[in-house]
Amino acid sequence: MGDFPQKWTRVRDLVEGGQGHTYVVMRSDGSERTEYVLKRLKNSKREEYFQREIQACEKLNHPNVLKIIEHGKTPSNKPYLVTPYCKGGSLETRGPLDLPLLVGLRMFLPICAGVADAHQSKVFHLDIKPANIFVSEDGVPVVGDFGICFIEDTEYVMSSDGPRGSMYYCAHELRGPKIRPGTLLAPADVYSLGKVLYWLFTGDVYDGSQEDYSDLVERNLAERFSSAPEFAFVDELIKGTVQRDPQQRIRNGFSNAVDLRDRVQAVIKRIEAGGRVLDLSKPMLCIFCARGYYLPYPRILGMWTDLKDRLADKGQHDEWNFNSQTFVPMRVAGTNFDGSSGIGSPVPLVLVCQYCGNVQSFRFDLTPDAAGLWKP
Ligand SMILES: Nc1ncnc2c1ncn2[C@@H]1O[C@H](COP(=O)(O)OP(=O)(O)O)[C@@H](O)[C@H]1O
Ligand SMILES: [Mg+2]
Repeated sequence: MGDFPQKWTRVRDLVEGGQGHTYVVMRSDGSERTEYVLKRLKNSKREEYFQREIQACEKLNHPNVLKIIEHGKTPSNKPYLVTPYCKGGSLETRGPLDLPLLVGLRMFLPICAGVADAHQSKVFHLDIKPANIFVSEDGVPVVGDFGICFIEDTEYVMSSDGPRGSMYYCAHELRGPKIRPGTLLAPADVYSLGKVLYWLFTGDVYDGSQEDYSDLVERNLAERFSSAPEFAFVDELIKGTVQRDPQQRIRNGFSNAVDLRDRVQAVIKRIEAGGRVLDLSKPMLCIFCARGYYLPYPRILGMWTDLKDRLADKGQHDEWNFNSQTFVPMRVAGTNFDGSSGIGSPVPLVLVCQYCGNVQSFRFDLTPDAAGLWKP
């Protein structure tokens, strides 16, 4: 039946990808009833890549990376590989997921963990997208299709005419006709992971051919999911990773999938623990009486407004000096309010519930910008 190794019997065909023919198979000797997936090389020019896929998967051993059970050559000498069958299919075939926040993040974390393990072994996937992430019978995502991956300690030098990942998911630095020597590969995977995260929550492919994610307000998940302010955390992950400039991804703290995995883990922990986003542009119900709304402590608010004006005027950040003329009076006010030691300690932002008087106070220096979004 076709060009098949004797030990495997074809059960049915799977969706065809770029590199191989894929089939669901079973062992011909009937020693077990388990179904596996056999992928056979389609284009013999790609044999080098196929061998690299085998090499990469054999090098890795992680619950979220697809394992190779066996590999070899078909009767007509085409290489093939056999992997466990992920019965949930690829993420893409599951369609837009419309997931609640924590469910989506818990789905995304193991994907990052699989890629992080690869990065730690110097394997770079370069084709991360929903069609290459498979889901096991019990719902665990598994990163598969290392068909165009790169292994750092092989002789291979990335050439500009080799196969590329999907144009929507592939990082900009790997898209062009020429790949610059010295291009870092880990941040390229980080970029694709950021796009997968966006897709998980929207079912949309974020194009981003012209602009960075953060440049488009209508793309902003925090805006789109305004009933769940914690989406701001997800937004921050996407903003940090879906950047055209790889150096910017690195500056944002996402050098590789290990960084991203750890950040996703931290975000999950924070949301599970009831961590909140403090957005001064939105009314915030008191967490104690659930009746009144928080308002900034008036004296400090006056100074804060004044400070924002001054910063806007100057367009400078040199005033962010806690011993400067701007901050000292605020610090005094903060000190008077909560008895904090003053010198050297940041001025708190103080919010008071206008009904019950419950007070919340936050470190001033945790404001990432002067836009009014505080994330203590
Ligand atoms: N182990 C597997 N379990 C379930 N589906 C799989 C498996 N391997 C491949 N597939 C399906 O076959 C498609 C093509 O396989 P893939 O490994 O991505 O090859 P290609 O290099 O041809 O893209 C995938 O998108 C997926 O739908
Ligand atoms: Mg594929």
